[in-house]
Amino acid sequence: MRWSSIFQAAVLAGAANAAPAEVPAGTKTISKRQSTSRYVFAHFMMGIITDRTSSADYDADMQKAKALGIDAFALNVAPDTSVNYTQQLVYAYDSAASNDMKVFISFDFNSGYWSTSDPAAVGARIAAFGSHSAQLKVDDKAFVSSFVGDGLDVTAMKDAAGIDVFFAPNFNPGSTADDFTLIDGLFSWYAWPTDGSNNPPSASSTYLPTNADTDYTNKIGDVSKYVARKPEAPICPPVSPWFFTHFQDTDSFAGKNWLYPADDLWFTRWNEILALGSRFVEIVTWNDYGESHYIGPLSSKHYDDGNSKWTNDMPHGGWADIAAPFIAAYKAGATAVTADHVTATGGEKVVYWFRPQPKGLDCASTDNVGSAPDGSDLVADSVFVVTLLTSEATLTVTSGSNAAQTFTAAPGANIFEVPMATGTQSFKVTRDDGATVVFSGDAPKQVSSTCVCGIYNFNAFVGMLPAGAVDSLDTDGLSRFTEGLKVSTCSPTPTLTANAKRGVAEARVTAV
Ligand SMILES: *[C@@H]1O[C@H](CO)[C@@H](O)[C@H](O)[C@H]1NC(C)=O
Repeated sequence: MRWSSIFQAAVLAGAANAAPAEVPAGTKTISKRQSTSRYVFAHFMMGIITDRTSSADYDADMQKAKALGIDAFALNVAPDTSVNYTQQLVYAYDSAASNDMKVFISFDFNSGYWSTSDPAAVGARIAAFGSHSAQLKVDDKAFVSSFVGDGLDVTAMKDAAGIDVFFAPNFNPGSTADDFTLIDGLFSWYAWPTDGSNNPPSASSTYLPTNADTDYTNKIGDVSKYVARKPEAPICPPVSPWFFTHFQDTDSFAGKNWLYPADDLWFTRWNEILALGSRFVEIVTWNDYGESHYIGPLSSKHYDDGNSKWTNDMPHGGWADIAAPFIAAYKAGATAVTADHVTATGGEKVVYWFRPQPKGLDCASTDNVGSAPDGSDLVADSVFVVTLLTSEATLTVTSGSNAAQTFTAAPGANIFEVPMATGTQSFKVTRDDGATVVFSGDAPKQVSSTCVCGIYNFNAFVGMLPAGAVDSLDTDGLSRFTEGLKVSTCSPTPTLTANAKRGVAEARVTAV
């Protein structure tokens, strides 16, 4: 999503409210599941899942997110149109309830969706769902968030809701349209390096996620009712692995053709979150395939808004696996992932990612949009590898015809980067001077020396060892694959199954 307001100089809002009573962390239900007052959310796009026909269609997402340590999905939703989003909210809340998960509504105030001049409609939607057993409650209040929404009359919204609301919107700290004393938390969407207003960063203007963390913390800290809670300021910083979008002019998101440079962001940003120690963190996102920042499965049921051209054969499940030990560390108040966090979240793994083709390829004549994404020069032609280990080991990475590179990987979570060459990508983890092979295997996808399916694909392929089950788009997710394709060599079919059988020789040898 693009946010509409441009960052401005912060102007301190009015006088502070009286300090709220300090409430023990979490509700009765929540306190059973977590030992601290920290919460992890994942942004969940309701706009792309309207092919779901029952609460059971949400079960796999709920179960997988819960297993990772995610406390709640932030259900990003628009008002009902020809599409019955109310029905989808009912399914999502019911599925969450039957899977011991929590959810909350994230009101999307993009133009044409919820209106900041209609706080009663927002409050009515909170009233309809806020007392459901699956509603996330923080400090005994129904948690509610937003995408943008500056200028909403918060008092009128809360009055219309008729229940206690913990409102953590995505207001801009620089906005003069908001009374920040009326909100309970503040959600940042500055998940990627940008220029501060919707473009990739440039030499003259760079606004980093950490810049936003500071601005958001200062804004909420300026309100005296929160000062007592520092350093666990009630800001909700985002953590996101990637951003690439490439819609052609026949799509509803026509004109979206850019990337924000991410490369190793998923690793570095999680460490920043651990250092920040905010009360909340939101993964951006679970299932936004169109912007390539999904960590949920490709198999999570959704329709194709045009994204399948850059998401087919591009699973991101390894990124979810990296999140698990970071979530464990975050909830423990740790500032780094340790061997214990790795052990507690599924054990040792290697996760790697790379783009499917070098950035310098000229695909203009066969690309569905016709031009490379804005920002394409800002990413590195590199393979990134994160080791999640319980004791020191040796990592060997071989990218195409490049010479193998060997690293010593310490216990906990560490990242390594090697130059990317076309061809097969191989990974190996050994101990005992190579005598014990912990993991070894080739990526099920190669780096291509030609434009894959003819297009500029700047999405990431994420793989792991031990190799997980193959994760593929279904027919709904591939329904628009061939629209706009100018080559006949690609069909709307996942191919990794066959590649995996041919290419992966995964082995795990237990040390004696
Ligand atoms: C949308 O779904 C809700 C929940 O099932 C239902 O009450 C409502 O009537 C539906 N709206 C329309 C227009 O069908």
